[in-house]
Amino acid sequence: MSTPQHPAPASATAEIESHLLVLFGATGDLAKRKLIPALYSLMKRRNFDDTTRILGVAGSVMSDEEYREIARRALVDSGVDEHEASGWCADVITYLSVKEGFDALAAKIDRIEQAADLPRNRAYYLAIPPAAFDDTIGGLASVGLHESDGWTRVVVEKPFGTDLDSAVELNALLHTWFDESQIYRIDHYLAKETVQNLLVFRFANPLFESAWNRDRIDSVEITFAETLGLEGRAGYFDSAGIVRDVVQNHLFQIMTLIAMEPPVRLNAGAIRDEKVKVLKSIYPVNGEDVVRAQYTAGSAGEEEVPGYLEEDGISPGSNTETYAAMRICVDNWRWRGVPFYLRAGKRLPERLTQVVVRFKRPPVFLFDGQGTPRLHANVMYITLQPDEGFDLRFDVKIPGEGLELVPQSLSFRYGDVFGDLPEAYETLIVDFLVGDQTLFVRADEAEEAWRILESVVDLDSEPGSYPAGSWGPLAADSLITGEGDHWHPQHDS
Ligand code: BG6
Repeated sequence: MSTPQHPAPASATAEIESHLLVLFGATGDLAKRKLIPALYSLMKRRNFDDTTRILGVAGSVMSDEEYREIARRALVDSGVDEHEASGWCADVITYLSVKEGFDALAAKIDRIEQAADLPRNRAYYLAIPPAAFDDTIGGLASVGLHESDGWTRVVVEKPFGTDLDSAVELNALLHTWFDESQIYRIDHYLAKETVQNLLVFRFANPLFESAWNRDRIDSVEITFAETLGLEGRAGYFDSAGIVRDVVQNHLFQIMTLIAMEPPVRLNAGAIRDEKVKVLKSIYPVNGEDVVRAQYTAGSAGEEEVPGYLEEDGISPGSNTETYAAMRICVDNWRWRGVPFYLRAGKRLPERLTQVVVRFKRPPVFLFDGQGTPRLHANVMYITLQPDEGFDLRFDVKIPGEGLELVPQSLSFRYGDVFGDLPEAYETLIVDFLVGDQTLFVRADEAEEAWRILESVVDLDSEPGSYPAGSWGPLAADSLITGEGDHWHPQHDS
């Protein structure tokens, strides 16, 4: 009997074909801070700036030259040399205002492709608010830009909808004009090296995988903490809240990678099938398993900062949560009875994205009464950012007389071994340009995630509170039920 072959994903080495990237939302914060710098660095690294063009599209009316100046400034702000930045922008970038209409867009695309002798390979990158999706997708289709004799791909930034109904509608709209194989829904967490490594950690290291289940694990905790507040995004954030902004996407992606079964192949279809199966085994989260809160005035490092309700652009009396913690039950053979605790918050004391896996304690504790409290369990800390790495905690005997135990760690830090990690957006751009959907969210995956949170995103009751610079409301402690367990780091530490 022959053994099935498991080819590696192609994106790392695959050739990037000549193409035109049409960037909707070209003057937005994401385009300036992340996308333009990532495109620049990628084109230089993979050397494809001769065979690629970028057409920025946004609301403002301006010339190619004026937009190049915006892009040039974005590059210089990200550390690129002025001269290099100007040359690259002049060679690669053009601009069109959406106010000129989609016929003008089709004509401009035609001109660029002819001038640069490009095949009709097109990527439409929608870095725009959800409210603009309808007009943009409909507009592209109205002038036939949804198809060409090359490849056509559409890249959709998060948030993907605001609840289950809107995600279903958005999927239906996209599927009217594009096949699922042409759609790339972005969650930039999936492209972080440390998040991608979760698959390697689990499925290349049978030692851990053999303990990765309800027989050996007591609970799993996932924390997303940032010191940042609104960063000029009050309008968006006040209508979204942290559950829509971070939990439905980034935290759920991490949770599915921690909980999924081994895929049958290392390809987009097989991996995404397993992630969807995890989501399908989760019951909708109900109100008593969620703690929501809003920050009040406090500190961010040395700086004193206002409370959420005093921030510019926040509606008076807003009930939007800036912190949420929840308990989730993954009801399948591997995980039944193992709570997954998720927590996300703005204006917390530090930036930290971390998974904490607590293993079960020994059934009989031989060392009771030897001066050691019966508290330590083996714990795996998977730090996704910053100071990326792994720490496995276990007890050792303190040398000398008596039998006292103390927890110690086996540790690995990415920075010590590999230096700086690549920027997530570069990885995502390469992947959609070579047609690898592994790190993108499939239609059913987005919908399942909203289904689980349906009743949570609708909660409009007054949230609890926590001072900026603290680890959130004490009420979140009550979600953790295991003996001696607490959030890591703890709320009151
Ligand atoms: C974004 C959220 O998706 O992720 C932001 O909209 C959040 O509110 C950001 O700050 C965090 O991303 P990162 O890569 O800095 O952890």
